[in-house]
Amino acid sequence: MKLNPLVSSLSLYDIANTPGVAADVSHINSPAQVEGYAGEEQLGKALEGSDVVIIPAGVPRKPGMTRDDLFNINAGIVKSLCTAIANYCPHALVNMISNPVNSTVPIAAEVFKKAGTYDEKKLFGVTTLDVVRAKTFYAGKANVPVAEVNVPVIGGHAGITILPLFSQATPKSNNLSDEEIKALTKRTQDGGTEVVEAKAGKGSATLSMAYAGAVFADACLKGLNGVQDIVECTFVQSSVTELPFFASKVRLGKNGVEEVLGLGPLSDYEKQSLESLKPELKASIEKGIQFANRS
Ligand code: LMR
Repeated sequence: MKLNPLVSSLSLYDIANTPGVAADVSHINSPAQVEGYAGEEQLGKALEGSDVVIIPAGVPRKPGMTRDDLFNINAGIVKSLCTAIANYCPHALVNMISNPVNSTVPIAAEVFKKAGTYDEKKLFGVTTLDVVRAKTFYAGKANVPVAEVNVPVIGGHAGITILPLFSQATPKSNNLSDEEIKALTKRTQDGGTEVVEAKAGKGSATLSMAYAGAVFADACLKGLNGVQDIVECTFVQSSVTELPFFASKVRLGKNGVEEVLGLGPLSDYEKQSLESLKPELKASIEKGIQFANRS
């Protein structure tokens, strides 16, 4: 974000250690002014005046854990951060990275509803890393230049709820078998776990996640600045399926979500996978809503 020419002011917040990170990042020779804020008493100052808030807070997975296993710790963290957002920058776009995204986005929505600040056009679950992975894995298998690849990824951001639509991938590849498509789908769904296992207890994706988070925030900033035809896949309030939140292609604009786009034509395998993911995604959404209204 320090490198992004659309960022004039970058506020870094954490419960501890932010001054060092802020000093470090601030030496990069780009225009954004960097400020570090540490501890809850500085959260309001960190948020005030923000146009976009990116939330990567919370604990990462260890091998053997699902994203849902993080719920008990991360749900409360997200809830308190969103309460502060409602107080200090209620009109900001919120980019939710904290897992389990399938539940933390509904938690944020409920917190904002209670505060009277909810705007469904301004709340996003960041699923860009799924798209980044799908592009990389597809380019490798289809033997096409990765920079030219596009693959929509729909559903949510956990296991089988991540559904890459390789039937819509471009450039088209006619030489991928059904088995290869299934393997690519599984690798994309398990991409986060692949990193968690490789890091062997030292956390989950941070570098590719930072890249993906920066790509998505850049798209949000471009939309806010009136750049036309900015389309990214993201987990938003949606009526594309019967589920209240769903990831699909979204056109971004001056107010956040400009249009939630439809799914387009699906292969039989994708249609089946879509039906299979719905119960898990529905349960994760409901878990988030219940948590926000219970505590
Ligand atoms: C990812 O997809 O890499 C992140 O959601 C982190 C994780 O736990 O997998």
